[in-house]
Amino acid sequence: MLIEVRRLRVVLGDKIILRDINLRFEGPGLYFILGPNGSGKSTLLRAIAQLIEYEGLVLIEGRDAREFDRIELVRKLGYVWQNPFYGFFEATVEREIAFILKNIGEPVEKMWELVSFFSAEDLLNRSPFTLSGGEAKRVCLLSVLVADQPMLLLDEPETELDLDGLNKLIHYLKKSFSSKLIIVATPNTLLAYKLRRHIKKIFLISEGRIVASGGSELLENQELLRNVGIIPVGWWYEPS
Ligand SMILES: Nc1ncnc2c1ncn2[C@@H]1O[C@H](COP(=O)(O)OP(=O)(O)OP(=O)(O)O)[C@@H](O)[C@H]1O
Ligand SMILES: [Mg+2]
Repeated sequence: MLIEVRRLRVVLGDKIILRDINLRFEGPGLYFILGPNGSGKSTLLRAIAQLIEYEGLVLIEGRDAREFDRIELVRKLGYVWQNPFYGFFEATVEREIAFILKNIGEPVEKMWELVSFFSAEDLLNRSPFTLSGGEAKRVCLLSVLVADQPMLLLDEPETELDLDGLNKLIHYLKKSFSSKLIIVATPNTLLAYKLRRHIKKIFLISEGRIVASGGSELLENQELLRNVGIIPVGWWYEPS
């Protein structure tokens, strides 16, 4: 499993959003991209997922990602939207979750195990557009993860989830990172801190550039995190 990003540059409107990004994610494992609002995390994941135009190269298993046909890419690489409502378009949650399996030609029965794991049975007949924020996040995760892709791009998967949702997400990540390449992007260190013993590598992004990288020890560097604009865990304990 290998995702490489070479000299990636994204310009949207008249603004340079990502500048000369070079990254390598190799083998199964859990990677975090931490950065403040507007630093380019979602843009980076979208470029890797071939959802936006970019300059430079994204290589998946050594092959130019632009050459993959859509279905081939969807089988290999799952992308979960930061805002779940962006990805919804079906009339019911059940159809929303089944969509990816139908698309890649897999039996829809494969969805039930994960639907039950994320306790989404009671949501199946609802319109996805009427879901609460946390319910929508669960359905959004499910509607991608049911395809069991070897590589996953998760954009702020933890936001909006309650204790049960977070425990389920963490359980899923812990059971999956030894066999999948998982990249999580978020402005918050809490999820990374919770999973610090399992993280392979962390990248810090600021104003469209990678400004630091390292192991979980980066999470202890409060000064660096604050300078970049990322919330260190200790911040939550400070009185205000
Ligand atoms: N279509 C667009 N046209 C102009 N600017 C855009 C466009 N899409 C995104 N941007 C800008 O690109 C920058 C990076 O956006 P991006 O969504 O990648 O940030 P992010 O790091 O994911 O932030 P957040 O933590 O808020 O999710 C932001 O300043 C955003 O306003
Ligand atoms: Mg984002």
